[in-house]
Amino acid sequence: MKPQARAAVIAFAAALAFAPQALAQDSAPAPAAGVSQPEGWDEELRMAEPADKNPDPTILEFDLQASITDMEIIPGTTTPVWAYNGSLPGPLIRARVGDRLIVHFTNNLPEATTIHWHGVRVPNNMDGAPGLTQNPVEPGETFTYDFVLEDAGTFWYHPHLNSAAQVQRGLYGAIVVEDPSEPAIPGDELVLVLSDMGLNDDGSFQEADRGGTFGVLFGREGDTILVNGKIAPTVKVRAGVQQRWRIVDAAITRYFPIALRGHSWIRVGGDGGLMERPEELPRMVMAPGERIDVVFTPEGEPGSEGELAWLPVDRGWGTAVGGRRVPYLKVRTVDEPAVEPLPVPQQLRTIEPIDLTDAVEKIVELTIMGGDDPVQMMGINGEAHTHQLESQVGATEIWTIDNTSDFDHPFHLHGYFFQVLDDSRIPEWKDTVNVPDHTKLRIAVRFDDRPGMWMLHCHILDHQEAGMMASLLIRDENGQPPKLISVGAQMDHSAHN
Ligand code: C2O
Ligand code: CU
Repeated sequence: MKPQARAAVIAFAAALAFAPQALAQDSAPAPAAGVSQPEGWDEELRMAEPADKNPDPTILEFDLQASITDMEIIPGTTTPVWAYNGSLPGPLIRARVGDRLIVHFTNNLPEATTIHWHGVRVPNNMDGAPGLTQNPVEPGETFTYDFVLEDAGTFWYHPHLNSAAQVQRGLYGAIVVEDPSEPAIPGDELVLVLSDMGLNDDGSFQEADRGGTFGVLFGREGDTILVNGKIAPTVKVRAGVQQRWRIVDAAITRYFPIALRGHSWIRVGGDGGLMERPEELPRMVMAPGERIDVVFTPEGEPGSEGELAWLPVDRGWGTAVGGRRVPYLKVRTVDEPAVEPLPVPQQLRTIEPIDLTDAVEKIVELTIMGGDDPVQMMGINGEAHTHQLESQVGATEIWTIDNTSDFDHPFHLHGYFFQVLDDSRIPEWKDTVNVPDHTKLRIAVRFDDRPGMWMLHCHILDHQEAGMMASLLIRDENGQPPKLISVGAQMDHSAHN
């Protein structure tokens, strides 16, 4: 925490300590330990959890099916949501680090799909990349995903085929992996999955390709914003009683500001688990695919109400023009006396910088080419869909992600965490990072193991599908390329629409 921030926290604690009721009782307020959240604090936000059918406590095994499920999202209307196990979001997967996850997946959708485990260091054949790591799961077919959760953190899962449409229609879910040896972070946990849908007034879906070329260029924001599948739900808080929010931006394009004036936020983690140290921030912005893990300290007047609101985020050319403010999460501070918040540990984890001694340097340019065919214009290093990078197990590389386009792009790499080479950032492991328009960002990555074909792409899924994606071939220790699972299959949906 910065010195001013710490001073602010101390000042706040001191203000509470001398609050009138505390003086009247002639005692300091109780610290938040043992003080519970308001009754029903998270009832509007709870998500379904899967039914574990494996008696082994270290194995989480369940059936997951994707199907069209009618739901009431806009009151009084019906939306044919594309859902996992009939819930929106899909079931929240909770496990401990080292647990094995076995998911028996059945596709009951009218089109092919796969599941990608975003941020999870899976073996290559579990990555859900159609045509690279597995065949598409056709309607009526099944596929079993089976892997060990190697890292603690907040992750998520979603399809990797026709993904702009499939994800925006509701196919996504969160994964929380806990590590009991981590330092205790204050606050009861709340998992928040932010997303949006393009809905007509009658609840039906807008066309997935609405807006044509401009829809692709800007990325499609659905105008119905959802938190855990609901429009502007409420969380109840008590002043001083912390909550630990694990937030996933599962929207296909929308960036989310995370801010609420008069309350405080201490970010403790992100994509790849805890950061090295906590960081107090008045406002954060999440890009699609990213996660944050943040301690929220309610500091509102007892009995007051506030709301987190979406505001236009400038993510490049014209994207912030004409947007309106949309409240997406209401925060009700219950009418109970404030208590003193608990301290957040100042050292969360040690993150060794990647050794760059023999690092190979590469350029990954995020390009928008000329021409008017939207399927041809977005690319990586000037190629739509087809660019391939190559490396080998054990190699360390530095990539300069050079965004030469007029729009921001959240850059995502499958299979490996990276470190952003920027001294102004607190060290953490990332798998998705925003690269603002006309800027460069350098990342370091070590291909520690798991040879195979991986993907890298923009997580604005309209951009990904238009071509801003590439593949990464990691040869094994003998220099052998992986066996491809199906020659000539499509890397993405283009042929499946
Ligand atoms: Cu979350 Cu390749 O994606
Ligand atoms: Cu993009």
